Amino acid sequence: MDFNKSKTKENLARIFAAECQDGARYQFMAKAALSEGYSYISDQLKALAKNEMAHASMIYGLILEKLDKGKDNVPIEAGYPFEPSLLKVSLSTSAEIEEYEAKNIYPSFAKVAKDEGFPEIAKKILFIAKVEETHHQKLNAFAKLYKANKLYKNSEPILWSCSNCGHSEMSKSAWQKCPLCEYPQGYVIVPQDKLTSLYQ
Ligand SMILES: [Fe+2]
Ligand SMILES: [Fe+2]
Repeated sequence: MDFNKSKTKENLARIFAAECQDGARYQFMAKAALSEGYSYISDQLKALAKNEMAHASMIYGLILEKLDKGKDNVPIEAGYPFEPSLLKVSLSTSAEIEEYEAKNIYPSFAKVAKDEGFPEIAKKILFIAKVEETHHQKLNAFAKLYKANKLYKNSEPILWSCSNCGHSEMSKSAWQKCPLCEYPQGYVIVPQDKLTSLYQ
């Protein structure tokens, strides 16, 4: 099928819009997290933003490569959610958006691409969906811990490390102030084991 007449062209434009939004949202959230004192979560959100912008850039390239004229304006209709960047709201709503992308919208776009004769595009969309699933799980785990006020507590001793100076200690809860560099608790890395146990 001619790419320029395909549904896939429009779907790629929708993915591009979604990825740009996600990337912007994570940058806003990273700022909010920092102002709430959660430096480590802020760093994690910046890493997610970087992933989203890489997805956006890749999709942008795919569209450009296939266009006849080398440039085009693709009209799309899509949802543009607006929500406060405060962590108590944004972590769980962003987790939901990621889940919807990973499990519904991107797999359906991949199917259309495959049916329209663009298997390579379908493959890339499914790869992105897989990444979005890891984003969903991570944001969901952060949301649960944040809401329960358990980011820095654990039922068993666990290894906490400072993202600033690298100091680490085994205990049930992380220090209020790092014994080495004296940076506050928000710099403590939430251990991967702790997050993984909350993934679903
Ligand atoms: Fe993405
Ligand atoms: Fe994502």
